[in-house]
Amino acid sequence: MSAFVPPRNDTFLKALNRQQTDYTPVWLMRQAGRYLPEYRATRALAGNFMGLCTNPELACEVTLQPLERYPLDAAILFSDILTIPDAMGLGLYFAEGEGPKFERPLVTEADVMRLEVPVIENTLRYVTDAVSTIRTALNGKVPLIGFSGSPWTLACYMVEGGSSSDFRKVKTMMYQRPDLMHRILDVTSDAVIAYLNAQIDAGAQAVMIFDSWGGALADGAFQKFSLAYMKKIVKALRLEVDRGGFRERIPSIVFTKGGGLWLEDIASTGASAVGVDWTVNLAQARTRIGDRCAIQGNLDPNALFAEPAQIEGEVAKALESFGVPQPGFGHVFNLGHGISQFTNPEKVNVMIHAVHNYSRKMRQS
Ligand code: CP3
Repeated sequence: MSAFVPPRNDTFLKALNRQQTDYTPVWLMRQAGRYLPEYRATRALAGNFMGLCTNPELACEVTLQPLERYPLDAAILFSDILTIPDAMGLGLYFAEGEGPKFERPLVTEADVMRLEVPVIENTLRYVTDAVSTIRTALNGKVPLIGFSGSPWTLACYMVEGGSSSDFRKVKTMMYQRPDLMHRILDVTSDAVIAYLNAQIDAGAQAVMIFDSWGGALADGAFQKFSLAYMKKIVKALRLEVDRGGFRERIPSIVFTKGGGLWLEDIASTGASAVGVDWTVNLAQARTRIGDRCAIQGNLDPNALFAEPAQIEGEVAKALESFGVPQPGFGHVFNLGHGISQFTNPEKVNVMIHAVHNYSRKMRQS
């Protein structure tokens, strides 16, 4: 623990804590990934994606790759949200070109009743080891973000057995057997709490909950089957840790994709920031959320397929929409969802420099 140092660039943490910053900090969801040739090379070396995730040295290498190219304001642990169900015994695998799949999805009542909170030290040690390795390698360059899926989003994969376009199985269970659904969400919430706190203990300086499929729920169902569990998690997260010589406060981000209708609800989880996708108007979001928490987002990832001048225009529009953060407000620039694997890395450079330069200029005028 004593090997850890405080971040030299703390712009990201300051924005999450709604303190004044010289410019708007930026990072990208999936910033380490297939759009980078160096990522594809390391992944080929590891054999496959899970080979990368389970090897702390290689996970560290790919986490740092985008930071060597771009002046990003945060690093995010290289891993996946589906490590938790894998640790619960569902047997995660990635079929080439088909996305994630489970060998043993939750089908029967007995499957659900057997579900247990995994012991993190035994099953997910490769993740906490990666966190410590990355934190040490960063050596204070920028803060490190840890993450987890939301219980509802994890349940979608656990019941569907993989990605789904209609969520038929998981919603059938939710409507027919809400008791079973709540049992899955209860066990998974406890797992997420233990997992995120273990990442914090291992060195994570902020944590994010990816509720990628919360937006697939009906109003009413969202509050019961996703929001309530995220609220429970946020309340159970360590707020502050002792790093041996200095203390760190740990901000949290809740990102519900498609959650624009429920911003006030999401702000009420007690998280430090609400992540928003590109359907949200930042000025309106800021008014609705007020000074309850910061906002992270929200450029359409597909804007990166436009020409450089157009990307700069879209970045300026988003920054102007939020406005210069006044005391009690905070904005972290990000995409509205993960970056596409087909993105030209040079366009990412254009976007990041535009965020830094334009947001500095706004503060000076
Ligand atoms: O943001 C980062 O750079 C950190 C790493 C990260 C990954 N997955 C790496 C990854 C994070 C934060 C995730 C989260 C994740 N994983 C989510 C939530 C965010 C979201 O996108 O909504 C979800 C739903 C998953 C599940 C998952 N993992 C899917 C659906 C896929 C297939 C995606 C695809 O485009 O094929 C993955 C695999 C995955 N996770 C990749 C990466 C870089 C691609 C793996 C590869 O190299 O082939």
